[in-house]
Amino acid sequence: MPDESDKYPEETGRRRFVKGVVGSAALATIGVGSAATLNLSTSPTGRGGGITQFFGIEIVSGPAPNGMPQIPVEIDDEGYLRGVFPEPQTVEQQGRQVQVARTQIGGITYSSEWFQYCGVQTYPGVRPDADQENYFRYADSAPYQWQNEDVSAGDRMNIDDFEDYETWGNDIGAAGLGKPAMGTWRSQDVPPAGTLPVQVLRVAPDKFEEMQANVSAGQWLEASTQENFVAWLNKCTHFCCVPSFKGTAQSAKFGASNEVYCPCHQSVYDPFNPTEYTFVALPRTEGDSDEGGE
Ligand code: FES
Repeated sequence: MPDESDKYPEETGRRRFVKGVVGSAALATIGVGSAATLNLSTSPTGRGGGITQFFGIEIVSGPAPNGMPQIPVEIDDEGYLRGVFPEPQTVEQQGRQVQVARTQIGGITYSSEWFQYCGVQTYPGVRPDADQENYFRYADSAPYQWQNEDVSAGDRMNIDDFEDYETWGNDIGAAGLGKPAMGTWRSQDVPPAGTLPVQVLRVAPDKFEEMQANVSAGQWLEASTQENFVAWLNKCTHFCCVPSFKGTAQSAKFGASNEVYCPCHQSVYDPFNPTEYTFVALPRTEGDSDEGGE
């Protein structure tokens, strides 16, 4: 992993620390490029899990240990937004044939394991062979007036809904950073407790240019965004609450009115700085359909 420490100014020492931890852990224990191999070999059940590298929106303060994992965005011919989910494939794992969802995107192995934390590893939508489409759909409750007035819960998100993304604002923080929405993903006809919550943000052009100039994730940024849309699984990596970008005025008290803020214990994430992390993904539970490959 290249040393990115020179890219950050003095006041963002936290970023350097996070990067350093990721880099040294990867180098000391497995060597760069070997994480994908260990993903499988360290899994106690053979259903995915183990040491996993991922790109997420950056954790900048608070108790959350990691960024929230990004979901690569693509837009279809009619302007509808989808989150990329890897095609399932069958691999041999501890002597068994099992299904995994894994692919190479933007210089990293992107897999369903990115989302296997906070109980999400039990959700139907993270199963490699889940019978789900990948469109982002609007959630049924959102902290945004525009979403509650202009679109309906369950509708697919469309680029036309975000036309004013260069100027959008509410009464929280600054306007003109981008336009957010709360959504769901791969969760049609799934009970609320098993629904994958996502946040989608169409980043304003000036801000997106900053992202392109500053992040060490250039290849990933290029591959995981389209028309300035960034998306992530919206489960706080602390105790699994649902944060929001400009979703609550309380965020201003913690300097987070222009960031993603978790109201449970005040973790703050920077959606404008995709960052690489390593964590130990939990295995999917017994009873899911990994046996399909056996
Ligand atoms: S900060 Fe604790 S759940 Fe988000």
